[in-house]
Amino acid sequence: MTRTIGIIGSGLVGKAVAHLAIAAGYRVVISNSRGPETLVDLVKGLGPRARAGTVEEAIAAGDLVTIAIPLATFEKLPADKLAGKVVIDQTNYYPGLGEFRRADLDNGELTSSELVQRHLPSAKLVKGIHNLGWVHMQYNSRPKGNVERTTLPIAGDDAAAKEIVTQFIETIGYDVLDAGSLADSWRIEPNTPIYFWPYIPSIPEGLTEAEAKEVYQQAGAPISRAAAKVLVDATERPSPIGGTLEGMPPIHIALFLELASGNTVKK
Ligand SMILES: NC(=O)c1ccc[n+]([C@@H]2O[C@H](COP(=O)([O-])OP(=O)(O)OC[C@H]3O[C@@H](n4cnc5c(N)ncnc54)[C@H](OP(=O)(O)O)[C@@H]3O)[C@@H](O)[C@H]2O)c1
Repeated sequence: MTRTIGIIGSGLVGKAVAHLAIAAGYRVVISNSRGPETLVDLVKGLGPRARAGTVEEAIAAGDLVTIAIPLATFEKLPADKLAGKVVIDQTNYYPGLGEFRRADLDNGELTSSELVQRHLPSAKLVKGIHNLGWVHMQYNSRPKGNVERTTLPIAGDDAAAKEIVTQFIETIGYDVLDAGSLADSWRIEPNTPIYFWPYIPSIPEGLTEAEAKEVYQQAGAPISRAAAKVLVDATERPSPIGGTLEGMPPIHIALFLELASGNTVKK
């Protein structure tokens, strides 16, 4: 039974998952690249079920380990320590936003999660909790049975690992759609219909910036598992591959950056 979540990465996503996991009754051990001494304030804020650790300590403590680091740093993940672990891959490929670019991702030879799995050959990798922004990870979470509960897709090659990850995601506030294998996971990567957009509210025209911000800090319309399956099954492979901020309304980028820099979440 999953009791402790090891979190690699203490940025926007690592923190969001820590909050969700703790609210659902799990313990977390959270880590980053600079060491646990930089996480004192964070774990204090997270409460008694959280502690800071090195990456190795987070992995060792975790019944389930989640990767919330930039994809560009995936080769720094300790493959030996992650052997045998069930691992959630929350990373995404955004070649336009950094210097990290790979031909095998750009040409569709590999999905980004297959790339991570190759580096972690003995880990049981499941792509998940990757397809919505960090603030909306928290805004969209709802208890089981709530009419506003929405669905997140996962993908992976190990059925038992997918079951464990499904139980975790269901406990932190979402229904889950099995979207297939890691090779299939292009269907849930950036720029696909199930990515980002379904989880944000639509912002009506003509609002002031303050009003738009208020609306933005709410959940998107819920998607049932059946509706998520329709979206995923109808997906065509994006071209070019990889996330981009192009096409995103400026209000979303501005609010996202503002919330990220202030690092605040309204709930
Ligand atoms: N931002 C979103 O809304 C969002 C949503 C879904 C998925 N994602 C994906 O989630 C991942 C993380 O995004 P983010 O926005 O949370 O990034 P972020 O705020 O920049 O945080 C990245 C974290 O990763 C840590 N890190 C980097 N390399 C590491 C290593 N080798 N070992 C341990 N920790 C390491 C950093 O440590 P230090 O603090 O010590 O530098 C930092 O805590 C990305 O792949 C992103 O595409 C992001």
